[in-house]
Amino acid sequence: MPSAVRLIEVGPRDGLQNEKTPISTESKLSFINCLLDSGLREIEITSFVSPKWVPQLGDAMDLIAALPMDRGALYSALVPNQKGLERALETGIDRIALFTAASESFTKKNINATIAESLANFREIMTEFRKVHPKGFVRGYVSTVIECPYEGRVAPDQVKPVVMELAQMGVNEICLGETIGVAVPAEVEALAHVLEDSIDVEMIAWHFHDTRGTAIANVEAMWRRGYRSFDASAGGLGGCPYAPGAGGNLAMEDLVYFLERSGVQTGVDLSKLALASEPIWQELGRTSPSKVHQAVLSACQG
Ligand code: HMG
Ligand code: MG
Repeated sequence: MPSAVRLIEVGPRDGLQNEKTPISTESKLSFINCLLDSGLREIEITSFVSPKWVPQLGDAMDLIAALPMDRGALYSALVPNQKGLERALETGIDRIALFTAASESFTKKNINATIAESLANFREIMTEFRKVHPKGFVRGYVSTVIECPYEGRVAPDQVKPVVMELAQMGVNEICLGETIGVAVPAEVEALAHVLEDSIDVEMIAWHFHDTRGTAIANVEAMWRRGYRSFDASAGGLGGCPYAPGAGGNLAMEDLVYFLERSGVQTGVDLSKLALASEPIWQELGRTSPSKVHQAVLSACQG
């Protein structure tokens, strides 16, 4: 199998955004440094969202100001609106992620906008961002691509127009979010099949939550179809505050283990990766749900 996989670590953002226990900026920085030590290079750091909506990420400006800039890392952050863009531009970050969804109810609950309003805002945000960062990277997230926590099943034909509009406005990548972690491979394949008529596999990243333990099966199905960009979070941290019942992200440990055992080099040291999120789990008073995480830690201790 080809080795050109892209691993995007979303733990500091998606992993923490839903946690009520405040994690200090220092702890986040230490976490990020440990993730870099493990060999990961692309990290979604935080979000420029309203601190009233997501208090855990209220330190976005301070966190970005303190990030190590000499470690070859690619840092990105979520931007929901104009105010978020202004804050992002102030920090100088040159990779942003815009986010909308395939279902109206989720979009309304998540960003207080309709899908059409969000896309219209993104057009303006893209234009302004590119004026400042002509070579900057813009990801466009589409959430609820399989099912919405408020509306139920989402058909591929509902997803496609949102994906196409993001592509048409010139984002660098589209990330498909299986927000609540219900999907099985046949459903993800059906979606991929519909999208592949109109969009290159290289443009797509997959973002699976692992609420029901199906995320790695979905990764495998998409890997076989030629997709090479996958999101995951250290230890399987995560969940969306506006997606009731959503569990954590696919654990990065599960993803790295799956790839390495399949003969794909990831450049990630699994032991260092498993250790990276341990202080965060301790602060949260829980343990990682990832079996690979647990097995790697047991092997380290044994
Ligand atoms: P709103 O209340 O409609 O905003 O929220 P508003 O424009 O009416 O402003 C209200 C107040 O918020 C004002 O302050 C603004 O200045 C302030 P006040 O005058 O009351 O003092 N404000 C902001 N402050 C800081 N940064 C901003 C900002 N915008 C307004 N950017 C808003 C709209 C989009 C802000 C809100 O809905 C929000 O923050 N939503 C974010 C929700 C979120 O972070 N969700 C999780 C991320 S998405 C996800 O997890 C899914 C994903 O992982 C993929 C998948 O799994 O599917 C990506
Ligand atoms: Mg998510």
